[in-house]
Amino acid sequence: MRAGSALLLVALFCRCAEPRTPGFPDGFLYGAATSGFQVEMGCPTLPADECEDAGSDWHQLITSKALLDAMPFVTRDGPGAGPGHYEKFREDLALAQDLGLDAFRMGIEWSRLFPRATDGIDTHDALRAHANPKALAYYHAVFAELRARGLAPLVTLNHYTLPLWIHDGAACHRDIVGCQPRGWLDGPRIVRELSKYAAFCAREFGGQVDLWATLNEPLAVVLPGYLFPSQERANPPAVRFRYAEAKQAMRHMVEAHARMYDAVKANDALDADGDGEAAAVGLVYALVPTAPKNPDSPLDRRAAESLFRLYNAVFLDAAVRGELDAELDGQVVQREDLAGRMDWLGLNYYTRVIVEGTETPTFAGLSPWTTFNPLTIDVSDVYPDGLFEMLGWLSRYALPVIVTENGAPNAADDEAGTQYLEAHWRSLERAVRSGAYVRGYFYWSLIDNFEWNHGMTSERRYGLFAVDAADPGKARVPRRTAEVLRELVGNARARH
Ligand code: BGC
Repeated sequence: MRAGSALLLVALFCRCAEPRTPGFPDGFLYGAATSGFQVEMGCPTLPADECEDAGSDWHQLITSKALLDAMPFVTRDGPGAGPGHYEKFREDLALAQDLGLDAFRMGIEWSRLFPRATDGIDTHDALRAHANPKALAYYHAVFAELRARGLAPLVTLNHYTLPLWIHDGAACHRDIVGCQPRGWLDGPRIVRELSKYAAFCAREFGGQVDLWATLNEPLAVVLPGYLFPSQERANPPAVRFRYAEAKQAMRHMVEAHARMYDAVKANDALDADGDGEAAAVGLVYALVPTAPKNPDSPLDRRAAESLFRLYNAVFLDAAVRGELDAELDGQVVQREDLAGRMDWLGLNYYTRVIVEGTETPTFAGLSPWTTFNPLTIDVSDVYPDGLFEMLGWLSRYALPVIVTENGAPNAADDEAGTQYLEAHWRSLERAVRSGAYVRGYFYWSLIDNFEWNHGMTSERRYGLFAVDAADPGKARVPRRTAEVLRELVGNARARH
């Protein structure tokens, strides 16, 4: 076991390991991140019916003719284009270890583990008998390999995808009101089944896992799912301007986080690192600084402020403090059943967004103050200072923060990728020096992976290691960023 993993929870829970300037605090996690759907499929030799998880709404999105016809911007790369981590996970984890990392972020795919509905099945043993035995064996093997390689697992329980038995994305795309099953819109069912799944994972894998994330980037489900699917990101059911449904989905995600938190805490009694703490549970959230297109325009400034609140504050205030603004109209209700359920926060940081204001609310059904056009927000502004700023902004919650994703598409331009990494690392160091309560950094991503609606073959590939979708063996080829990360981590460790 590495010192990093042993000290993980001590570092997360106390402020005793404040940084010795200029180094990172002891116990700081150095990792790379992945998600289940994005890496598992595309095995070189295993049969597709084992490697491919055909049971999720995202699998449906990238394979259904009706959905692809309706959304021409969604990739035509099939699931077989993926990097095949399901088969090659040992090789991948060896690569992570060789980079000097001591942590690895991964997802468990709910639909892979439970391809059939779990309603009415309530005991651990009954769920175990109901689960896909190959998936159970697979995740156990991954955790064993991680531990053997001194990589502390950070496990995301839900990274966007939902099983088809709880969400028929195609039916809901056609008819959001009448569809069944309705995914995030059927609050009681999804909260119940998702927390049951969280409890199951906590009990099943808790002996190997201490660090859990409930949901990944809830707003990346709500906004491109129910408000403005676009070429950038369309999430099932990918319907437009459904304000009531967007608010429902958001509220149900806040509730799901709280109940998943309770479920993991109640079911993971095993302390994998032997440091006295069995489970630290958090949420992974993408924060985005917003900037007015024209800083001299009061309209643009107002738009940037309101977008900042919508993107960054509304969900977290509810999930961390129980301050629920259910209608997004500024009427906040204090909910004690939601508050106080966060041991750490995961920060995904990529870019700043540039916003232009409008005279009248174009986002009419959401709130009177959203005077911007969601379809014209520019999400491409690389802004390394934003990492420092967002780590500072998060101090309002007084929670330990782990940077759970940060990286850039670097398939076309290795140089831009390394510059991005170095600049953001400097911003991270500045935050640590100024006393930010940050306890880890995970680069997105270890390997090129299935970039949601952009698939495997666009230029949006984020891997430290390139994977060519057309290569039958799915070889991993290091990019310059891998070498740079290895150096940055090595230098940081030397200063502990
Ligand atoms: C997501 C990842 C995604 C990355 C790059 C994040 O929003 O969590 O799944 O691949 O951004 O787009």
